[in-house]
Amino acid sequence: MKEMKVLTDLNRPCAFVPTMGALHAGHQSLIAKARELCDEVVVSVFVNPLQFEDKDDLAKYPRTPERDAELAAEAGATILWTPDYEAIYPNEITKLSAGALGAKFEGVHRPGHFDGVLTVVNRLFELVQPRYAIFGEKDFQQLFLITQMARNLHPDIEIVPAPTIREITGLAMSSRNVRLSENARTAAEIISQVLRESAQKPDTATALLALKEISREPLFTLDYLEIIDEETFEVASEETEKRRAIIAGWIDGVRLIDNMAMKSALVRA
Ligand code: PAF
Repeated sequence: MKEMKVLTDLNRPCAFVPTMGALHAGHQSLIAKARELCDEVVVSVFVNPLQFEDKDDLAKYPRTPERDAELAAEAGATILWTPDYEAIYPNEITKLSAGALGAKFEGVHRPGHFDGVLTVVNRLFELVQPRYAIFGEKDFQQLFLITQMARNLHPDIEIVPAPTIREITGLAMSSRNVRLSENARTAAEIISQVLRESAQKPDTATALLALKEISREPLFTLDYLEIIDEETFEVASEETEKRRAIIAGWIDGVRLIDNMAMKSALVRA
């Protein structure tokens, strides 16, 4: 695997996995998916300051460069690209806005976060010009907004979603999980439990009630929960065909987000 600070012209189609480092099995599954699509797989590691509204969170974001290189190579990356700030943000860059949806759900609790995500992903796409870009479903609102942005600004790039990878306990893999104490990790199991319960329900109202069972866990502080329409990201009604439960909150100072598609698609008469 080539390790590069400056991206040289690739001249052949590549699949791209943008990351902020602290790689884990979830990222490795994205890289493996990328490898199924292209022989050339570029993985970028760039901790994007623009998407951190809380400077303390940015400072605490785990950084594990040597392990990243090992895990990326093991999963099939052919190029590991670690640009510095100037490479991504020279003087003149286009700052993107995530619009109304960027201010909902995650956006209520992380103002400006999605503007920062779209701005960096747009820049990364300009620089890498991949044929495919792979994003995890774990950050479902991010995936939705990037898919919209790519449709408008990068119609030649296919956005490929990849399923959330979970630990045996059900906890969605995240770079932030390393900050969970043993107690917090056990408490966090309730997130995937209520999502699984909710996903089984035949209708939106009972799915929402199942999700609200999160309040049983005293260590969990809720930011939001909702059943949304996967196609619009609006709050789902009983008529919505593709529904997804989304949830975010805090355990022991660590912010966790997760989501799950509802099993029952609406059957129309
Ligand atoms: O999901 C992430 O790790 C980041 O938001 C991304 C897409 C790499 C942009 O910095």
